[in-house]
Order: sequence, then C-alpha cells, then structure tokens
Amino acid sequence: SLPSSVRLFEVGPRDGLQNEPGPIIATATKIEFIHRLAAAGMTHIEAASFVSPKWVPQMGDAAEVMAGISRRPGVVYSALTPNLRGLEGAIAAGVEEVAVFGAASEAFSQKNINCSVAESLKRFEPVLERAREANVRVRGYVSCVLGCPYEGQIAPAKVAEVSKALHDMGCYEVSLGDTIGTGTPLAAKRMVEAVSREIPVTQLAAHFHDTYGQALANLYAVMEEGIQVIDSATAGLGGCPYAKGASGNVASEDVLYLLEGLGIRTGIDLQAVIDTGYWITAELGRKPSSKVALAKGCV
Ligand code: HMG
Ligand code: MG
Repeated sequence: SLPSSVRLFEVGPRDGLQNEPGPIIATATKIEFIHRLAAAGMTHIEAASFVSPKWVPQMGDAAEVMAGISRRPGVVYSALTPNLRGLEGAIAAGVEEVAVFGAASEAFSQKNINCSVAESLKRFEPVLERAREANVRVRGYVSCVLGCPYEGQIAPAKVAEVSKALHDMGCYEVSLGDTIGTGTPLAAKRMVEAVSREIPVTQLAAHFHDTYGQALANLYAVMEEGIQVIDSATAGLGGCPYAKGASGNVASEDVLYLLEGLGIRTGIDLQAVIDTGYWITAELGRKPSSKVALAKGCV
C-alpha cells in the first residue's frame, strides 16, 4: 500500500547545480533559488557541498551560500561532506545536517571520491563521530544502487551491505541513489526489499535520476515497498560529474504531480515549485526539463 504522506528532499541547489556546465553560477543566484524553494514549502533543501573545488568547481562557494541563506523556521538546509575537512567547514558555516556519500560500486567510489568502498566507510567514521559531538545530523548516500556507469549491474546484496554500514555508523537516513537512472520498477523493488531487511524502510530515501525516463515508475514501485522520503530536483536539474551521461534528478514538479494524483500529502505548493523551476532555468539559459512544468507553464 502507498504512504499517506511523503517528505520531499530537494537536492536542486546541490545535485542540480553541481554539474552545470558553463560559467560558475553566482552565489546570489544559488541563495535566491534556495529561498524560493523554502517559500514554496520545501522543508529539506540540500544547499551546498563542502567538497574539493578542484573536483566540483560549481560547489566552491559552499560557505558563502550557507552564510547567505535567511533560514526559515522548520526548514533544514543540509550539505555534502565527504571527509572531516568538509565537515569542519560545514560546522563553521552553521550547517545542522550533513551527508556522507558512498557507493555500492568500487569503480564509481574510486572515480567519485578517490578511494575504495571500504576506505570510504573508514573515512566516514570520524565524520560521524565529530558530527555527533557537534550535534549535526548525518544522512548517508549510496550511489549506483541500480547500476554503475563502469561496472554495469550491481547486486542488491552489495547495496544492502553498504547501506547497513552507514546506518550502523549512525546515519539517520540512507538515501539510495540510482545515479545513472538505469533502474526499472522490478529491480528497484527488489533492491529496496534487500535493503529493508537490514534497515527499517522508514529510514530509507529514494534518490532517482531520470536518465532513462523510469524515475516516476520506480518511485511508485518503491513507495509500495514503504519508502516515504523522495529526493528530487526542481526543473529536473542535475547530474553527477563522475557519472557520464547521468541526466537530471527526477523533477520535483513531476513527483509532486504524481503524489497529488495519488492523494499523498507533501505540504508543498506545486505551482510555486513550477515557477521556481522556470526562474532558475531562465538564469541558466534554458527551460525546465519537468514535463509537468512544461505542460502547466509559469504564472
Ligand atoms: P583526494 O584528492 O583523494 O583527497 O579527494 P585529498 O585529501 O588528497 O585532497 C585533495 C585536494 O582537495 C587537496 O587540495 C585538499 O586540500 C582538497 P590541494 O592540496 O590539491 O590544493 N580537499 C578539500 N577541499 C575542500 N573541501 C574538502 C576537501 N577535501 C580535500 N572537503 C575528495 C577526495 C573526497 C576530497 C574528492 O574526491 C572530492 O571532493 N570529491 C567530491 C566528488 C563529488 O562531490 N561528487 C558529486 C557528489 S556525489 C553525487 O552526486 C551522488 C549523489 O547525488 C547520489 C547519487 O545520485 O547516486 C549523492
Ligand atoms: Mg544524485
């Protein structure tokens, strides 16, 4: 059966913008994007990434973005932190929630964070410890849960193993990333079944990219398995710099339209998200890739 409410975790300002080609997006534009998302009713916004600016130049102003946000009560503004250095930066910037990111694929782990899966888990332990001291909540990501750009198929058991390690370490939620969007509903369902044998399904999130146009179908399948947290990006922005061909995250507008049709509550104003998607893509010189946004238009 389907959940009665779903929490959207908006990743547009981070996953959406990290891979944007062309000039570096102005800090003020990122801040305005985040403000508009919060005003539309988003309660979880991944705002920045404290990663190496050599690896991901678009996220080089993480501290400035975090400092520039006027925080709305009830909204969590989180950031990626791959190591202790990133976490210290996030703490100094007053971030209340961070995320570590690992993978179910060895090759992807090497390309994305320059270490093996086992090394990454070792590296995350002190991050979790320090975050606990600083009262910062930590989310865990697992990439390549439904396929890897380098290794192809990934066994659900491997996804479950890495997810369990993150959960055991203290991640309050594990977000399952279909980084390259190759998943289909049956595979998504089996993967979530395998992971939820290790971790309560209420502590899992679905983070699906829409490269192959399967994301909404996959989300429906995993909601039937009990998933109640969905990562999405307004306007379908995004992609991962270390996953060639990975297109955007599933569009927040499309997810909201699906959920509204199913009678599932989110507390988010769809039209306000559509308008925000038109605004940010105009800043980037294009149109939203959300079908719902294109159909409904901006007001
Ligand atoms: P490394 O080269 O192994 O690490 O990179 P290092 O410790 O040797 O440091 C190399 C350089 O980076 C040094 O600078 C460090 O100071 C600096 P240099 O001496 O060369 O001038 N450095 C940092 N600078 C700023 N902030 C930091 C930091 N750490 C080191 N925190 C590292 C390892 C993890 C740093 C690197 O590989 C990296 O930054 N990777 C980030 C990759 C990334 O952001 N990928 C995209 C996000 S993941 C994703 O999109 C998937 C997801 O959406 C889910 C899904 O869809 O599957 C989450
Ligand atoms: Mg992603």
